[in-house]
Amino acid sequence: MSTLISNIGLLVTNEPERLERQDAALVIENDLVAWVGDSSKAPATDSQIDAQGSCVIPGFVDSHSHLIFAGDRSDEFEARMIGQKYEAGGIRRTVRLTREASDEALRRNAERLIGEARAQGTTTIEIKSGYGLTVKDEARALKIAASLTPETTYLGAHVVPTEFADDPAGYVELVTGEMLEACAPHAKWIDVFCDRGAFDEDQARAILTAGKTRGLGARLHGAQLAPSGAVQLAVELGAASVDHCTFLTDADVDALANSNTVATLLPGVEFSTRQPYPDARRLIDAGATVALACDCNPGSSFTSSMPFCIAVAVRDMHFSPFEALWAATAGGARALQREDIGGLSVGQRADLVILNAPSYVHFAYRPGVSLVRQVISA
Ligand code: NIG
Ligand code: FE
Repeated sequence: MSTLISNIGLLVTNEPERLERQDAALVIENDLVAWVGDSSKAPATDSQIDAQGSCVIPGFVDSHSHLIFAGDRSDEFEARMIGQKYEAGGIRRTVRLTREASDEALRRNAERLIGEARAQGTTTIEIKSGYGLTVKDEARALKIAASLTPETTYLGAHVVPTEFADDPAGYVELVTGEMLEACAPHAKWIDVFCDRGAFDEDQARAILTAGKTRGLGARLHGAQLAPSGAVQLAVELGAASVDHCTFLTDADVDALANSNTVATLLPGVEFSTRQPYPDARRLIDAGATVALACDCNPGSSFTSSMPFCIAVAVRDMHFSPFEALWAATAGGARALQREDIGGLSVGQRADLVILNAPSYVHFAYRPGVSLVRQVISA
């Protein structure tokens, strides 16, 4: 079965030698891109979709989310909007409610949010645990996540739970021991929240090293609340990505620019916590690989909308519209070390979005407006 998408006004492929094409067409066969070229030269296929001159982009790759949770923290958001600061401690509220929720309720909530994300063009989403923080609750979060996406991340080291408040070292032992054993079969990645009020660099190094030994890839939450050694630790450990990067030193930027570690920026967090935005220009101009993701979670960023993140990245973080689109597609794929997604070259997965707009520039030009006409993915 082959399908031709014809009459594409602007096709973004993210191919290094030719990032976008005008008046293009694309053929899908067996869920892969089989042909890309001029609309006038399109081959015959079994079926056709007329893009009517609009723009087609690769599906968004949202490389950072926390979708396995219960409860609402809009009261914290409301308090922040009138002056209160965001602190890591709010996570423990969600932990309490998540532990009480049934598997079915957690699954339904995650499915609802994935549905929201897909309707806005997301075709791949990473999902972390981190609101269970017991062996049983972390493992069940990851089992649910693994039934929804291949990109699952064990975040037992989100914060030290209340019952270990007097014994953080004991909690690190659990995270690197019995909890890791129970979670690793359902996870591809391991992550640590390395920041003020969460875990320090030595703890993060021990946890990521244990995860790597167990076959998990490393990623890190770093420099969200204060500058720290987290960014350089991520580079040192060869992490796929270090996420947030709100407070960067010159040495952090240098380290990222000279590494394969992706700097994943999460504009929804700064928007929802009234923090300063990360210095994206400094990273991009230094040559670091930058991704954009939603960080969808009930505390610091309750959005599932990659178009919203792109609009903020362009308007307030000074990405060009194309840089933002690239970071939300190819950048996300790099952050997940995936070569089959994030672009529309021949041989990549045909995960794509037909827009109700002539150009991706409209994500920032028409903020808050739904521009997704059709989402296609395997
Ligand atoms: O990525 N920073 C740590 N974790 C989440 C926030 C979680 C929460 O506040 O519930 C984040 O921002
Ligand atoms: Fe996060």
